[in-house]
Amino acid sequence: MCGIVAYIGNNQACPIVIKGLQRLEYRGYDSAGLALLQNNQLNIFKTKGKVSDLEQFISTKNTESTIGMGHTRWATHGVPNDVNAHPHYSGSKNIAIIHNGIIENYAVLKEELIKSGHSFMSDTDTEVLVHLIEEVQKNDQCSLEKAIQEALNEVTGAYAIVVMDKNDPDTLYAARKGSPLVLGIGKDEFFLASDATPIVEYTKNVVYIGEEEMVVVNRNNGFTLKTIQNVEKTPYIHELELKLEMLEKGGYEHFMLKEIYEQPRSIKDSMRGRLNAIDNTIKMAGVKEFEHKIINANRILIVACGTSWHAGLVAEYLFEDLARIPVEVEYASEFRYRNPVINENDVLIAISQSGETADTLAAIKLAKEKGATIFGICNVVGSSIPRETHAGSYTHAGPEIGVASTKAFTAQVVVLTMIAIYIAFKKGKITESRYHQLIIELDKIPDKVKHVLETTNEQVKQISDIYKDAHNFLYLGRGYNFPVALEGALKLKEISYIHAEGYPAAEMKHGPIALIDENMPVVVVATNQSAYEKIVSNIQEVVARKGRVIAIVTKADDTIKSLAEHVIEIPETEEPFSPLLSVVPLQLLSYYIAVALGKNVDQPRNLAKSVTVE
Ligand code: G6P
Repeated sequence: MCGIVAYIGNNQACPIVIKGLQRLEYRGYDSAGLALLQNNQLNIFKTKGKVSDLEQFISTKNTESTIGMGHTRWATHGVPNDVNAHPHYSGSKNIAIIHNGIIENYAVLKEELIKSGHSFMSDTDTEVLVHLIEEVQKNDQCSLEKAIQEALNEVTGAYAIVVMDKNDPDTLYAARKGSPLVLGIGKDEFFLASDATPIVEYTKNVVYIGEEEMVVVNRNNGFTLKTIQNVEKTPYIHELELKLEMLEKGGYEHFMLKEIYEQPRSIKDSMRGRLNAIDNTIKMAGVKEFEHKIINANRILIVACGTSWHAGLVAEYLFEDLARIPVEVEYASEFRYRNPVINENDVLIAISQSGETADTLAAIKLAKEKGATIFGICNVVGSSIPRETHAGSYTHAGPEIGVASTKAFTAQVVVLTMIAIYIAFKKGKITESRYHQLIIELDKIPDKVKHVLETTNEQVKQISDIYKDAHNFLYLGRGYNFPVALEGALKLKEISYIHAEGYPAAEMKHGPIALIDENMPVVVVATNQSAYEKIVSNIQEVVARKGRVIAIVTKADDTIKSLAEHVIEIPETEEPFSPLLSVVPLQLLSYYIAVALGKNVDQPRNLAKSVTVE
């Protein structure tokens, strides 16, 4: 969590850093700060609250400087307040640091530093690191660069850091392990940031800093890349494909609504160059090289967190149903700590929008050590997870900025669907004509999603108004739509803070049914598919207890119309593809309820989009 930005060049650093922090605010937004080198002074400005609060705070101050760095925080150690906000000074105030990650052994280091006479202002692990750097520099009488390397070799945990030195207005030092860091190379100017979004406006040339690498950026001499063990590295300069307009709201009130509405396009982008409905084929470069591994896998393990885990659950249905490969889906955080049985014949699929989630990354490393083949499904190009995998497919959904994931989910499901269909065909588990039939229908999904958006938006808005004051919601689904029920409940919790539970519809009898009364809205995904009669019975059970049913149904469903209080119609499709349509009204429902309650939709409390701590 946390976002970092730094600038050195001929322009004013402050506006560039502030704008960059706004782009990174999805990573954390409980406090923000800025360090600038001004007339041989290293000045820090920081405050509790959002980047807009920081902007307000500095509005009357002199912020003139051509070198600076900033931070937007998601608290791990120490409550969100002015003191714990970054940047942090070293004891002498000659050095300042910004940090994204966690220094796990900070308590031991802090104790030792206190014994050597250091005192600390904040409760953060980061302040310990900058004191440690200063201590090493003092003891070893070495350069700051060397001291940073030595200090980083002493810490355990994760970091992306930038360090500024009061006595050197021409240099920024940065390093990373476990947390992302990108260097932007402009004309006589350089940028450092947690991702490329603060950089794209100024240059398309970036270097993704690798694990345990360090970059020293000098105003006059350019940059050098090396490991924290001081081994020089040759940088690989990438050209960004990201476009500025992708990072703006484009007329929508919130990023979340924009991203919900982008789905017809983002799903198409996920399919582009892969699904060809003219010659009826699926071609996926990332899969091709390792397809024999997937085809012959004993089982597929899927690890992910949050919404990505729900996409993994849909994939379990897809791979078992179509390709007949056993699948286990697990929360990455559980998988990594439970000594799982893994061997060389397993394929592990890691799903992550950000490509940075600490638990997912750790689960990958564990499975890799045990010989499994690792396949990644990520949205953020150049992020950490794709670099740890043997192969993978990007989802190409474009930047997702709303903290509650929407278009990333449908893109993940589409990519997994294409892989499952392809493998099923290659494995001989579906006939050629079924393969073609599925491809033709999948190709229609973007238009069907568009239709769902056009036809359900107003109705969902009205329903939101009726139920916005409910304290609890129950979401039910079966088969392919069980994960959708979980996802609908998660969306509502995340942004409206209403308690919601997702359940397999039949399991309702084993507990949640006791909660149903006239105050309980029950959202049932009841499309006209294999378990249709069963879900109609489940709706009857809810209605009999006076629960208020909001049903997502396939068009022209008269049976459920006569039972449910509200019926939201979506088009017919192949059953395996129904999550791609049924999830859309649930995304809208959570969005409109949160808006009606006046919540901060794009930046819900306590959450962050990129969870780089475990
Ligand atoms: C956080 C986000 C969720 C996301 C989850 C997993 O909790 O708020 O939207 O689903 O992390 O993130 P990932 O980037 O790995 O998909």
